[in-house]
Amino acid sequence: MGLCLQDWLDLVAQRAPEELVRIKRPVAPAQFESAAVVDSLERQGRLPAVLFEQVSDLKGRPWQGAILNNTFATFKKVALALGLDSDARLPLLERILELAGQGIPPHIIPNDQAPVRSWLRQGEGLDLSRLPIVRHTELDGGPYLTPIVCAKNQDGRYNVSWNRMQYLDKSHLAIYMSPRHLWSYFAAAEAEERDLPIAVVLGHHPAFHLTGALLTPPGQDEYHAAGGVMEHSLALTPSQVWGEDFLVPAEAELVIEGRILAGRRCVEGGFGEFTGYTGPQRLSWVVEVEAIYGRQRPIIIDIFPCQTEHINAHLPIEASIYQRAKQAVPGVAGICWVGSGGPFNLVLSLKKRTEGEPMRAAMAAMSASNFIKHVIVVDEDIDPEDKGQVMWALASRVQADQDVTILKNLQGQVLDPSLRHEIKSSGMIIDATKPLDRPFPQRGEVPAEVRQNLDLARYLED
Ligand SMILES: Cc1cc2nc3c(=O)[nH]c(=O)nc-3n(C[C@H](O)[C@H](O)[C@H](O)COP(=O)(O)O)c2cc1C
Repeated sequence: MGLCLQDWLDLVAQRAPEELVRIKRPVAPAQFESAAVVDSLERQGRLPAVLFEQVSDLKGRPWQGAILNNTFATFKKVALALGLDSDARLPLLERILELAGQGIPPHIIPNDQAPVRSWLRQGEGLDLSRLPIVRHTELDGGPYLTPIVCAKNQDGRYNVSWNRMQYLDKSHLAIYMSPRHLWSYFAAAEAEERDLPIAVVLGHHPAFHLTGALLTPPGQDEYHAAGGVMEHSLALTPSQVWGEDFLVPAEAELVIEGRILAGRRCVEGGFGEFTGYTGPQRLSWVVEVEAIYGRQRPIIIDIFPCQTEHINAHLPIEASIYQRAKQAVPGVAGICWVGSGGPFNLVLSLKKRTEGEPMRAAMAAMSASNFIKHVIVVDEDIDPEDKGQVMWALASRVQADQDVTILKNLQGQVLDPSLRHEIKSSGMIIDATKPLDRPFPQRGEVPAEVRQNLDLARYLED
């Protein structure tokens, strides 16, 4: 058998019990209740995983499973998902890259051995309102799922991505796709007037979910990459609707099968997003649902989109950005995107060998992802995760007329509320490194050997 969500919950309970809170009281997710609990905890600076053990469905009826929030809210929990003890950023990013790069081929098991096939709703019995679909923020256009979507392209390769989905009616969801792989799979199908079959996974081992935010090259199969990230071959089973033509994760908690409809659009949103703002209503795509099935007592992973857990779930994207920047400039020593003070800011640190390297590293990072709008490059003596140090470098190493470069007409992130055009954006690179071609003052510091040999306690004794 492969890995499942319960394996990770058991690991967290054993290795980091302070990272998991169980809520036994009944909670109504569709009435903002689970979101309010997660929000209140975060306002107190607390980010444990929260397992809501008794939740009601969309219509307020008791549901048989649970909802899990804050799965990715701390690096500690992400580290446990990736088999690491250290929750330091660079080892985490390097681990994600190593695991995804190695990949492990999936294996297929029959439906009757697949834990996700414990019950099935199809035809007359199918009703999405029997699921606990969550309302997160006030101006959301409706209740939303925040699942992983699996799709297959014409070459037979599977894509795994995170896509928000809004409840429309008992057999329809709206899906939001920005122009990346899933979007291109659908565009290819729609060009031939075909619907795109998808399997929507509402809970699996967190390492599987992290695969959803990998910027894998188009030629790579993401079921294969998921096996690598999970360090276990992903168990797959034939789908209910398309049989062996479409394989779905057998150890998921709950799966919805459906088709993104060619030639159909609907109003979707607003939606409180990772930017911290409510995005506008848009014309999005319609999913017709054909089957729902799950484990006896499924646990749905929900992501509160305006909170830390959403930003942190993007760590695999940060890993790819780091990789791209380091390939361009080997002296790249550190990175901070997630937690950089805003979703579109990136800080890179590097050991500069020649002038111009900061610019090359910044441009490589920008080309890796349209999530990057502003890049600040600092020397390796500055910790990119320490906003105070970064601001000091900005204050003391930058002359704006020389060191700030403005870029125009970049493909931006459509969720950026500051965009003035639908998708075109501008970018800014700030080179906050010390010059190599002229003298620059050294830091004012007590001599290192005096500092190291100082027994401070002795001076404070009386
Ligand atoms: C929690 C979370 C939610 C996301 N929601 C969406 C979404 O609704 N639509 C979208 O296009 N991308 C969304 N993303 C980003 C994509 O999942 C991510 O960029 C992924 O790499 C895209 O995969 P693809 O290029 O294989 O389609 C989300 C990411 C995370 C971490």
